Amino acid sequence: MRKKIVAGNWKMNMNYEEGIELAVSLDKYFTDKAPSGTEVIICPPFIHLAAVSQALKSGNIALGAQNCASEASGAFTGEVSASMISSTGAEYVIIGHSERRTFYNEDDSLLNKKTILALESGLKVIFCCGEIKEQRENGSHFEVVKRQIEKGLFPLGKEAMENIIIAYEPVWAIGTGLTATPDQAQEMHLHIRGLVREKYGTEIADKLTILYGGSCNPSNAADIFSRPDVDGGLIGGASLRKDDFVAIVEAREQT
Ligand code: PGA
Repeated sequence: MRKKIVAGNWKMNMNYEEGIELAVSLDKYFTDKAPSGTEVIICPPFIHLAAVSQALKSGNIALGAQNCASEASGAFTGEVSASMISSTGAEYVIIGHSERRTFYNEDDSLLNKKTILALESGLKVIFCCGEIKEQRENGSHFEVVKRQIEKGLFPLGKEAMENIIIAYEPVWAIGTGLTATPDQAQEMHLHIRGLVREKYGTEIADKLTILYGGSCNPSNAADIFSRPDVDGGLIGGASLRKDDFVAIVEAREQT
């Protein structure tokens, strides 16, 4: 059985106090009601990481960052390295989110570099991929996702793949209220698993956790998670509201 995951991507939201408050209240919730069989991850902004790490006492929520530097250390003003992230107690890092690709021009080879550094620092990587609206409309979405995965991940060796989670996030669905249908999510996840199978074999492909992201909320989560190749979700907006995030985790638990 592969790991089911629900991860919250807070993006650039929540000031320090609000962030700690949300983390503490989620931690309290999952202390009383430990998730069984679903890994719950929260990914706050960098400056929250160390304090959130201390605040998560239940052991039932894992911590992740939203990005990392493409260099290991040194004179890179304003950057945060993978090993710094790891030193806070965080276990995961999101790499290749469409907002990084679009607004910060992060290309496939840079993302591969970040992925390698993150893995070397002992982090697990949530690697994002997904097509924009025009690509979905002109039918190139499978090809686009294939290229992102081939260039960003396939230089990796087999062992490295054990620490990779892929998040399929159609860009047209992120923060828009438009969600991929469960069928659209399933067929892309199947496509992704097929690519990984071709490259790394059945064992790695069957173990790979593939998350869906893009306007996932308490009312559509169960439907999306019911599909066989959808192993969980990467949640943006709804992860900022405790009740919504908890409801999505529970939807994952029950499907
Ligand atoms: P959303 O964001 O749930 O707000 O659409 C998802 C993401 O960008 O990870």
